[in-house]
Amino acid sequence: MKYFLVVLALLVPLASASTLKDSPGSDDIAIPAFVQTFNQLHRGPPVRISTKRANVETRLFSQNLDNFNDTNQNVWNQRVLINEDNFVDGSPIFIYLGGEWKIEPSAITSGLWVDIAKEHNGSLIYTEHRFFGESIPIKPLSTKNLKYQSVKQALADVVNVIKVLKKEDKYKDSKVVVSGCSYSASMAVWLKLLYPNVIVGSWASSAPLEAKVDFSDFMEVVGRAYRELAGDYCYDLIDNATSYYEGLFQSGQGAEAKKLLNLCDSFDETDERDQWQIFSSIANIFAGLAQYQKPENYDLAQYCSVLRNFDKDDALALSQFIQWRLGRPECVNINYQGTVNYYKLSKNNYDGTGLGWFYQTCRQFGWFQSSANSNHPFGSTFPATLYTDTCHDVFGSRYTSAKIERYVQATNSAYGGKDPNVENVYMTHGGLDGWSKVGAGPAQEAVIFPQASHCSDEGSISSKDSQSVRTSKKRVVELVREWLEDSRAKAIY
Ligand SMILES: *[C@@H]1O[C@H](CO)[C@@H](O)[C@H](O)[C@H]1NC(C)=O
Ligand SMILES: *[C@@H]1O[C@H](CO)[C@@H](O)[C@H](O)[C@H]1NC(C)=O
Ligand SMILES: *[C@@H]1O[C@H](CO)[C@@H](O)[C@H](O)[C@H]1NC(C)=O
Repeated sequence: MKYFLVVLALLVPLASASTLKDSPGSDDIAIPAFVQTFNQLHRGPPVRISTKRANVETRLFSQNLDNFNDTNQNVWNQRVLINEDNFVDGSPIFIYLGGEWKIEPSAITSGLWVDIAKEHNGSLIYTEHRFFGESIPIKPLSTKNLKYQSVKQALADVVNVIKVLKKEDKYKDSKVVVSGCSYSASMAVWLKLLYPNVIVGSWASSAPLEAKVDFSDFMEVVGRAYRELAGDYCYDLIDNATSYYEGLFQSGQGAEAKKLLNLCDSFDETDERDQWQIFSSIANIFAGLAQYQKPENYDLAQYCSVLRNFDKDDALALSQFIQWRLGRPECVNINYQGTVNYYKLSKNNYDGTGLGWFYQTCRQFGWFQSSANSNHPFGSTFPATLYTDTCHDVFGSRYTSAKIERYVQATNSAYGGKDPNVENVYMTHGGLDGWSKVGAGPAQEAVIFPQASHCSDEGSISSKDSQSVRTSKKRVVELVREWLEDSRAKAIY
């Protein structure tokens, strides 16, 4: 009970900008709850609050629409943020890579990467990934135009930024190091793999490396996070409430579940795919909270305290919790066709989130967080098919599950899965981060922090750090020194 008031005030519900303009003047289209929870799970690293003043400049870099076809003359502007506050001519360039999110200044004004850049009088650069934020190379986002959305193109964009910078006098002798979190950490690894001479080293915090269609292990780790950090009672509550709702659908009482969960009329309780959407949305909400939890703040224990306090009945407590996380809509907008329609609509009316990443999951990575592994409290009602069906219905009939499987295997062939053939790359993971299951492990010399979540080591060295995080942060500081030192004699780009 103690946590209850604190938490309601402090913890913000999911993105409030939950509408998409259909066309100017028309009514907004509500973002389906499933898409909200999916976007939340794939959001960027938390914005850090910094009291220090920093001058962050925005620059636009002209990029080719297709970096691998000289005949294609189309260009677009990539947004890049630059912080040169501590820069001395010729000192290194510290790139922080943008992933599937809109970039914002805090990533290059505070945190460990910034501290290290200062030590070397470095310049800090934050690159926005194509098809996210304000860096949209082409519109509309038809399936045809989205063929220019790939990690290979995005890595080539980063190399172009480096090329352009290094033409400037002050950067001509600058060495380049990169870092990233989550998908942008994968990029940090793959940049070193594809362009070993352009950058001297790379630190990847929580990089998923192995593409996989049915990412069934993910929810197991999420469940473990709740059990370990919030307790058995919390795990059991989620488990029982989920089973209760699954049981209602299985016994033909879907209408009752619909009522208890306050689902909108458009939800069809007899439609299997509508049911898949509910249970995946519930799991995504819990996973989204676990994603950036800090064990030292007791985040998950607090969320579970809120959950428990909503109602003494498990099923009702879960329903209240879900509605709270979704920003208390009049009714919870969940149905399969609504999600497909939303994505189709956003192909023509881009709203700055979601679609570019959903496309990449269908075309390159998979990582569909299914219920197939039974070792978690979120039930067994959301197969990876939910996602592959959506790919098919949104991007076209070519996207069969067999084809998506081949796309994913092609990604692993190109980048080497969990064991990429790279040097001067340092990889870290949280032991209670589901993404660690598709990342490098100790066998590949990755460092795992027990109890930690996603990208948990990006802040400045602090007394709140666990022993393992602190040791690792010091190691990053040391490694960057070595990378910059070692490469002194080598010719760089
Ligand atoms: C390269 O670009 C040209 C001009 O846009 C286009 O006609 C051609 O089909 C492209 N080639 C490939 C292999 O994409
Ligand atoms: C950083 O710049 C200052 C001032 O120009 C200089 O004294 C110092 O040696 C530089 N440090 C490094 C690591 O280059
Ligand atoms: C499981 O949840 C149902 C529905 O909320 C409730 O009636 C039942 O008492 C719960 N079971 C346990 C063991 O808590």
